[in-house]
Amino acid sequence: MFKLIKNQMVVPNIHLLTLEAPAVAQQVKPGQFVILRADEDGERIPLSVSDWDVKEGTVTVILMNVGNTTGRLASVKDGTSIPTVVGPLGNPTEIDSFGTVLCIGGCYGIGSIFPIVRALKEKKNRVITVIEARSSYLFYWEDRLKEVSDKFFQITRDGTKGYRGHIGRIPEIIQSSEEPISRIIINGCTFLMKRGSDMSRPLNIKTIVSLNPIMIDGTGMCGVCRVTIGSSTKFACVDGPDFDGHQVNWAELLQRRKTYLKEEVIPLRTSRCEEHAERS
Ligand SMILES: Cc1cc2nc3c(=O)[nH]c(=O)nc-3n(C[C@H](O)[C@H](O)[C@H](O)COP(=O)(O)OP(=O)(O)OC[C@H]3O[C@@H](n4cnc5c(N)ncnc54)[C@H](O)[C@@H]3O)c2cc1C
Ligand code: FES
Repeated sequence: MFKLIKNQMVVPNIHLLTLEAPAVAQQVKPGQFVILRADEDGERIPLSVSDWDVKEGTVTVILMNVGNTTGRLASVKDGTSIPTVVGPLGNPTEIDSFGTVLCIGGCYGIGSIFPIVRALKEKKNRVITVIEARSSYLFYWEDRLKEVSDKFFQITRDGTKGYRGHIGRIPEIIQSSEEPISRIIINGCTFLMKRGSDMSRPLNIKTIVSLNPIMIDGTGMCGVCRVTIGSSTKFACVDGPDFDGHQVNWAELLQRRKTYLKEEVIPLRTSRCEEHAERS
């Protein structure tokens, strides 16, 4: 059993979970993920590790409440134990001395890009960090990211902070950089990573994305996380989750992520209605 030390809603619908998992904390590297279960009968879901503390034996994940299991995890109380925290899984993000690196994070990716930015900075890269959200009230960890970035930008769709718009503003940020960008790394929802890759392709800047297909075992056995990269079939859990964004078959990924939509979303609506009825 793994103790949930802290469950804090950092912005609406996004929770920071700090878990006691010393073996994971000792081995994890930026870009890796864990698989969690909220209860014994629950399904396994992958979450990126956004921070860790080797001395305390803890790992932190940023959880966006989108469905059944994320909803269950979001409601686990501090001090409660959960049955599964498996990891670290997947390959770490490649960290080297690249020069100037542009790191982009949206939704849960604002958290998961943090250890990547920190590690790139430790490797003496010049790091430009961009976070994006619908509105300024959805930003978190701004100070933490600023501290490890050379430059820090924000984009909001409603213009309440930073640039107004979406990831389409990135070329302006790239043009304002004094040095050429050697690499772009994007973490967050599939649309953000797809649009970011579409945008950087004509600029010919290598773009790494952390793919989030549906996963079950996370060990390369079930094949559920199959993605097409160029002309090759890859399993995101063992071959990724990082891939070259210009090589990803995005249409297939978006389609495969909807495979269980009917089974996932309809029961969710029913169970939340039942919960509501029980309470009222
Ligand atoms: C390597 C990896 C790292 C991830 N890191 C994080 C993270 O740090 N924080 C975070 O909040 N989420 C992360 N995700 C996504 C997270 O795993 C899903 O949101 C979660 O599995 C949904 O489970 P659910 O039961 O709550 O939703 P479900 O009830 O299963 O589904 C609800 C909705 O979420 C969609 N969905 C289902 N599976 C996924 C998926 N894998 N990715 C995105 N949407 C999905 C469904 O299409 C549906 O629309 C990551 C996914 C992967 C593969
Ligand atoms: S999750 Fe089963 S093969 Fe990747």
